[in-house]
Amino acid sequence: MLTQRPRGTSDILPAETAKWQAVEDSMRSTFRNYHYGEIRTPIFEHTELFARGVGETTDIVSKEMYTFVDRGDRSITLRPEGTAGVVRAYVENKLYGEPGVTKLYYIGPMFRYEKPQKGRERQFYQYGCEVLGSDQPSVDAEVIALNLDVLTGLGLTELHVELNSVGCSVCRPQHRERMIAALTPYKEELCEDCQARLERNPLRIFDCKNRSCKLVLEKSGAPTILEALCSDCSEHFGAVQRTLEGIGVPFEVNDRLVRGLDYYTRTAWEITVPEHGTIAGGGRYNGLVATVGGPETPGIGFAGGMERAMLVLAAQRGGDLTKNELDVFVAVAHQAAEEMAMQLLQACRRAGLRADRDYLGRSLKSQFKAADRDGSTFVATVGDEEVANQTVSLKDLATGEQQVVALADTVNYLLQKAGSAS
Ligand code: HAM
Repeated sequence: MLTQRPRGTSDILPAETAKWQAVEDSMRSTFRNYHYGEIRTPIFEHTELFARGVGETTDIVSKEMYTFVDRGDRSITLRPEGTAGVVRAYVENKLYGEPGVTKLYYIGPMFRYEKPQKGRERQFYQYGCEVLGSDQPSVDAEVIALNLDVLTGLGLTELHVELNSVGCSVCRPQHRERMIAALTPYKEELCEDCQARLERNPLRIFDCKNRSCKLVLEKSGAPTILEALCSDCSEHFGAVQRTLEGIGVPFEVNDRLVRGLDYYTRTAWEITVPEHGTIAGGGRYNGLVATVGGPETPGIGFAGGMERAMLVLAAQRGGDLTKNELDVFVAVAHQAAEEMAMQLLQACRRAGLRADRDYLGRSLKSQFKAADRDGSTFVATVGDEEVANQTVSLKDLATGEQQVVALADTVNYLLQKAGSAS
């Protein structure tokens, strides 16, 4: 036991950490482009926050929370997700008093007592965001576009957005009654979980993977939530779809999509990748701020599992975002060029280029190999001739193209290349 970590947790060792950091950097940069600020909330909160916020009947609250009584006799829970804590912080810090909508993002560990498997851990990391203060359908489109961009920014492909609306406090109760009426005659044919869902939250029956439950849904004629939306929700859902089409975000409506948390209203979505399943999900939660004790404030957000993003990255791109880490590798062809090499190296770094060199006095061939291994875009070679002419020989490692550039122009030339590549 002493030398074994708890089930469902992992050690992220330095080689792996480098990849995680590159992924996190890329995500942060996308969040910043959309003007979201980072929030860091506590890793544990009062249990009641999740019980009330996420919903007593959800799997997360009823089966998966790490809850304990602390030495002050308070019930504390390790956060199973980020939204409830962010909303609590929004209310507690009165962020609603600030002008404009509040746009926040986070990256951090979450805890759920689940059956561990590939991409499902008990301590896992989520990246996510929340926007508070606007019910405009354009915000839904922005957040869905951002969810995709965070992932395409990593170079991931084959991402599919599945979109649904889960209605609001006007249409959901009516839908619930219609579902109960349609399904009750078939109650015995539903699985045990769905029999319980029928009373508590019949919408979740659409989420059941059980064949007999799927059959019952079909033959009972139970309405999907889309068939039962009120006119406001229906209008909102139409506007979200039109905006997504307008900004070129592809999506597919899936009227069976139901999320596993109770706070959702209206728009809900998941991002799936073939062979990997769902890697991120989110939705609108217009009642959550009030549930937590704040003023009526609409909200929307998403979260994705870092481990799942890393798995897709590994499958699609060899997992290595850290490749292409250097803009330029300075190769020293002759001892006489040592001083010039250091000057060039430092000038590159001061200009913001990622630059490095070899300090082992190895052959030019080995230096080129090292440059390749470090994923450098260019190798800048300096030797006798270059010192005499005050020039640098540049090689683009991707195209193999070579050219001689005046030493004085080298930094600008590389900056220009790095700028047009990004
Ligand atoms: P969720 O669907 O429960 O939503 O989780 C979001 C993502 O977290 C999942 O799609 C998955 O990638 C990852 N995830 C969940 N559980 C695990 C696990 N045990 N191991 C690894 N990854 C996991 C939420 O958590 C909502 N708070 C999302 C949200 C934000 N909605 C509005 N704002």
